[in-house]
Amino acid sequence: MASLKSPYGIYELFNRPDLHYSQLISKTEFTHLDIIQSNDPNDRLTTELKNHPAGALLFNKLVHQIEDYELIMIDTRGTRGITVDMTVLASDLVISPIKPELVSAREFVRGTLNLYQSLEIFTDYGLTLPPLKAVINCLDHTKDAKEIVETLYDIFANTPNPHIELLNFTIPNRVAYREAASRSLPVHIHSSKEDENIRQLCTLLFPQWADRFIKK
Ligand SMILES: Nc1ncnc2c1ncn2[C@@H]1O[C@H](COP(=O)(O)OP(=O)(O)OP(=O)(O)O)[C@@H](O)[C@H]1O
Ligand SMILES: [Mg+2]
Repeated sequence: MASLKSPYGIYELFNRPDLHYSQLISKTEFTHLDIIQSNDPNDRLTTELKNHPAGALLFNKLVHQIEDYELIMIDTRGTRGITVDMTVLASDLVISPIKPELVSAREFVRGTLNLYQSLEIFTDYGLTLPPLKAVINCLDHTKDAKEIVETLYDIFANTPNPHIELLNFTIPNRVAYREAASRSLPVHIHSSKEDENIRQLCTLLFPQWADRFIKK
């Protein structure tokens, strides 16, 4: 397996035009799942992209050069910055987990609206902003959480941005997710109980592949 790990990662995608993208991709133990490693711990890319006149657009071009994959998932940090902006501009769909805490929910809506507003300018140059699907994660059984969920649906219903949707589905707060994370396993493989939740979530996010998520 070791030989299937590329010595390169996301940093070289931007900085080594001499390398073909396939040289940056590492294989994983899962069939049909490859990864480009995150190898920019000091966030050099942020500084470099900010100094580039088309910084936020470069990623769109690079991602669209990648062929032979049906789905490319890009994990970003949660806070605003050029790497989040460029990822939104390179994406067909944005997925946002949201915790049922009121402060974070309001901040989330405000932050997301600001993000879309500031990227709106790119639509004058032929880009389309992707839809965003938010999903409530870590829901517990407290009354407080239930009330916050109701408020969240209200906030989203009254949000004047057609791109943004809150899925009518919640992921529970369960120890299986923490265990899976610390074992570096997908939760549906770690816990058969969560398998159904993940199937449902995937179906809502990617209805075009619904038949692939049916349990066989
Ligand atoms: N539904 C859930 N129930 C319980 N724990 C959860 C759930 N979802 C996520 N967690 C736990 O919360 C922690 C953080 O999750 P995760 O890494 O997905 O968040 P993140 O916002 O991407 O964090 P980071 O900013 O570090 O990238 C992990 O330990 C994860 O297992
Ligand atoms: Mg993360």
